[in-house]
Amino acid sequence: MVLLKIEDLKVHFPIRGGFFRTVVDYVRAVDGITFELSEGETYGLVGESGSGKSTTGKAVVKLNDVTSGRILFEGQDLSKLSFGQMKPYRKDIQMIFQDPYSSLNPKKRVVDIIAEPLRNYERLSVGEEKKIIQNYLDKVGLSPDSMYKYPHEFSGGQRQRIGIARALTLKPKLIIADEPVSALDVSVQAQVLNFLQDLQKEFKITYLFIGHDLSVIRHMCDRMGVMYRGRLVEEGTSDEIYENPQHIYTKRLIAAIPDLNPESREKKTHLRKRVENEYKQYRSKYFDDKGRAYDLKLISDTHRVALP
Ligand SMILES: Nc1ncnc2c1ncn2[C@@H]1O[C@H](COP(=O)(O)OP(=O)(O)O)[C@@H](O)[C@H]1O
Ligand SMILES: [Mg+2]
Repeated sequence: MVLLKIEDLKVHFPIRGGFFRTVVDYVRAVDGITFELSEGETYGLVGESGSGKSTTGKAVVKLNDVTSGRILFEGQDLSKLSFGQMKPYRKDIQMIFQDPYSSLNPKKRVVDIIAEPLRNYERLSVGEEKKIIQNYLDKVGLSPDSMYKYPHEFSGGQRQRIGIARALTLKPKLIIADEPVSALDVSVQAQVLNFLQDLQKEFKITYLFIGHDLSVIRHMCDRMGVMYRGRLVEEGTSDEIYENPQHIYTKRLIAAIPDLNPESREKKTHLRKRVENEYKQYRSKYFDDKGRAYDLKLISDTHRVALP
């Protein structure tokens, strides 16, 4: 069943200038994208910095205004709802942010950080609340006495676990994970990723997983969409995107993944050169006169590519 459907979503930010601060132009951060998430799957949004991934995620939880298009969650168009009308849906959709340092209030104890969303929805006694929070701390692998500590007393990886515990207390159906491990040491990245996968099984969560690291996305996602300048240039299963990329931008992205294995490094260098040449020669085939990617066209049951 489809849980979330994004239809021709546009998020444009006005650029103001001149003496009267009038709108002189727009940043087309998201410029007409369509994709959907089935219940229980992990869908990746991948692309270089500035391609519009976070703006897409934030639009779903109403941290950004939508310029046009629809955001259908269980069939209900969230883009038309006011902040107040969103309340019942905010419970179902939680967001985890990239930076575990700035996303937790440094002046609050862990117990208050994790309980905050819960307190907006339920009236619980202190005892009940404590029990719930201890349970979630346990689930994310933190000791019960973490409750009364402050964020600065934890490492980056532990802070990200606190953010995850906070997102879980309302039993969301959808979690938007915006580069949840990008700010963490490589040594703890895998740990947090595996842990997100365990939670998915236990709570039947659907993930919109945002990232710029293709190896992380491949490890996590069933399907993925590749974003470039506010547009989707390709969508498919993780294997399709990796083994059989069709759009020149996807090919470049994959060719750019560093190869740590010395034996295949030379092959990779050849691939990179070939893709660069192809890019120089055929770029205009993949973009219109304004440099904008075309709409996605189906090339198989699951694979879509932006072609004229
Ligand atoms: N609130 C905002 N006001 C103006 N421009 C913004 C705002 N948020 C994002 N942008 C711009 O929109 C584009 C996409 O940003 P973002 O969605 O953060 O990209 P990504 O997450 O893929 O790195 C960038 O050019 C960014 O500068
Ligand atoms: Mg981002």
